[in-house]
Amino acid sequence: MSKIVLVTGCRSGFGLHIARDAAKAGHTVYAGLRDPATGAELAAETQGLDVTPLALDVTDAAQREAAVARILADHGRLDALVNNAGVAVGGPLEMIDEDELRRVFEVNVFGLWALTRACLPAMRAAGRGRVINISSMSGRQALPLLGVYASSKFAVEGMSEAWRHELRPLGIDVVLVEPGAYRTDIFGRNRTVARRSLDEPAYVPLVERIDALFSSTVDRTARDPREVSRLVTRLLTARAPKLRYALGPGTAVRNAALRLLPGRAIEAIIGRAVRPRREPTGRG
Ligand SMILES: NC(=O)c1ccc[n+]([C@@H]2O[C@H](COP(=O)([O-])OP(=O)(O)OC[C@H]3O[C@@H](n4cnc5c(N)ncnc54)[C@H](OP(=O)(O)O)[C@@H]3O)[C@@H](O)[C@H]2O)c1
Repeated sequence: MSKIVLVTGCRSGFGLHIARDAAKAGHTVYAGLRDPATGAELAAETQGLDVTPLALDVTDAAQREAAVARILADHGRLDALVNNAGVAVGGPLEMIDEDELRRVFEVNVFGLWALTRACLPAMRAAGRGRVINISSMSGRQALPLLGVYASSKFAVEGMSEAWRHELRPLGIDVVLVEPGAYRTDIFGRNRTVARRSLDEPAYVPLVERIDALFSSTVDRTARDPREVSRLVTRLLTARAPKLRYALGPGTAVRNAALRLLPGRAIEAIIGRAVRPRREPTGRG
């Protein structure tokens, strides 16, 4: 059955592909853009499809309300919300400035929560609905220098799990998608490193080690984002979706290790992988 779907963060990456693939599958898609002036790729990718771009910065309360009101005015219902918009910032937690931490949480956590909250009354009234939250493998396991991003996605995981229990009796499914590394703008145009990341010499060897590891691993293993958009499109109509769907390079192995190995073993494996090749220089 054709669904009325709102997807956030459709300028690039997963959001762009989800908007197109969901519309190709016959759904009516409202595609949120943080800045409507950046919708050229979305327009090109979705030409001839039932996709309506919407100005939707998820941190903007007026835009959130207007987006939901527009969809309800057009169709009288909203069947599914895909909370895809997300940002990251890399760097040692001590070197992150408060505004950098807050920006990530504003988009990934508060924006997601507030937009979901704006959509729920219509879904509750209909007695059905689906909320698909794009989390990450970093929502299950935190790696050094990704502490801000990981903690925001851990928050998304906790919120989604609680919501799952609260909303199931009301006919609304909450689903988490946990991708590994995929080739999107989060590793390109939108890649953000904390402004003071390299200011403290004690962290420089770790930053350099992770930078090298990260670049080689992402370049070598990152996959086609359409894998994620195909999964999300299936989940829009899946009969009884689970809470969590993990996919992507290394995800199955990592999740099996998390299930089967003691915490100390996991810590040792990560510790060895990220150990700097030279000693920290201490305070500068
Ligand atoms: N790529 C991966 O390997 C990977 C893995 C796990 C999870 N994820 C998650 O997947 C989701 C999509 O990311 P992506 O990989 O597709 O990266 P991307 O290409 O950078 O896409 C992120 C999208 O979010 C939008 N956005 C940022 N701030 C926003 C805001 N305040 N309001 C509305 N939209 C906003 C961006 O728009 P602008 O460019 O205009 O700012 C962009 O369209 C994110 O939640 C990310 O954490 C990605």
